[in-house]
Amino acid sequence: MVSLRSILKVIYAAEQAEGVGARVRRSIGVPNMRNFTPFLMLDHFNVSPDAGFPDHPHRGQETVTLVMKNYMLHEDFTGQSGVLRPGDLQFMTAGKGIVHSEMPFSEDGTNVEGMQLWVDLPKELKHSAPRYRDLRAEEIPIVKPNDKVEVKVISGTSYGVESVKELAYTPMDYYWYTVQPGGEFEQQMNPEFNGFMYILNGSVQMQNKNGMGELVKEHHSIFFNRDGDTIRGKVPETSSKTDFVIIAGQALDQPIVQYGPFVETTKEDIYHAFNDYQSAKNGFEKARGWASEIGAGVDEGLFRVKSNSMLSQGVPLEPAAHKVITKDEL
Ligand code: CO
Repeated sequence: MVSLRSILKVIYAAEQAEGVGARVRRSIGVPNMRNFTPFLMLDHFNVSPDAGFPDHPHRGQETVTLVMKNYMLHEDFTGQSGVLRPGDLQFMTAGKGIVHSEMPFSEDGTNVEGMQLWVDLPKELKHSAPRYRDLRAEEIPIVKPNDKVEVKVISGTSYGVESVKELAYTPMDYYWYTVQPGGEFEQQMNPEFNGFMYILNGSVQMQNKNGMGELVKEHHSIFFNRDGDTIRGKVPETSSKTDFVIIAGQALDQPIVQYGPFVETTKEDIYHAFNDYQSAKNGFEKARGWASEIGAGVDEGLFRVKSNSMLSQGVPLEPAAHKVITKDEL
């Protein structure tokens, strides 16, 4: 029998300044939702191509970046670099330390749009070696359980369709729903996972034990209690086409002590993180004297160099089609 989760909180993500000339809508990591274990931050970013997130460190967490429009380039102090295209994601485990640069690019000067999620690492994995996993758009299956609902299964299982596995160290699910007016949806949730949704555009109504709840509009997050195994809702006939993400992750039973991009379980470890970063040791050795190539900004020429290098690894600039599973195949 289905047990529906109740709503803990609905929060509006107001636009705020972040990085160098960037604007973000933050729904986790704000005063009325400091964190939602294992999640530390969610930013819906919409940045001008001359803005960006130049050289900065991370420790003790994972970041999951989804690009929705145009391109995001990245480069880190180990010499790795790459290009995320529309629909691509990058799962990055900062572990004991990474210093990197994340910079937008668009061919026509329009803004770069996407989402960045920060995920806490279990205490015993906080100081593991850094690693990356690029998840290319082509690797993400799309399930269409009916004419009005389409789900990109980024991580987890939706309507019986499974994603690529083992993307992050902290177990998590990530779905991108597109629902037409009048469409109804239902997503199962692991009972041990905290889950929430963020509405990119349009509006939704979630079902609770007493029927349909109130209408929740774009740029709001809905946080659920961990009191059921399913969330269910609809997009009203009177709404426009609606996009939202549903994100859930293993709740971690540990303190969160965060100072900017350093996330530990004690104040003492935060002090060590600052000290290690400043003196380039214990994971930050390569930070000494390092500056990224892309941090000063990405022009057409540099973008060509980076995208050609991606092509040489078998990834074309234009993402190929997703694998689509329709209701007849379910
Ligand atoms: Co970063």
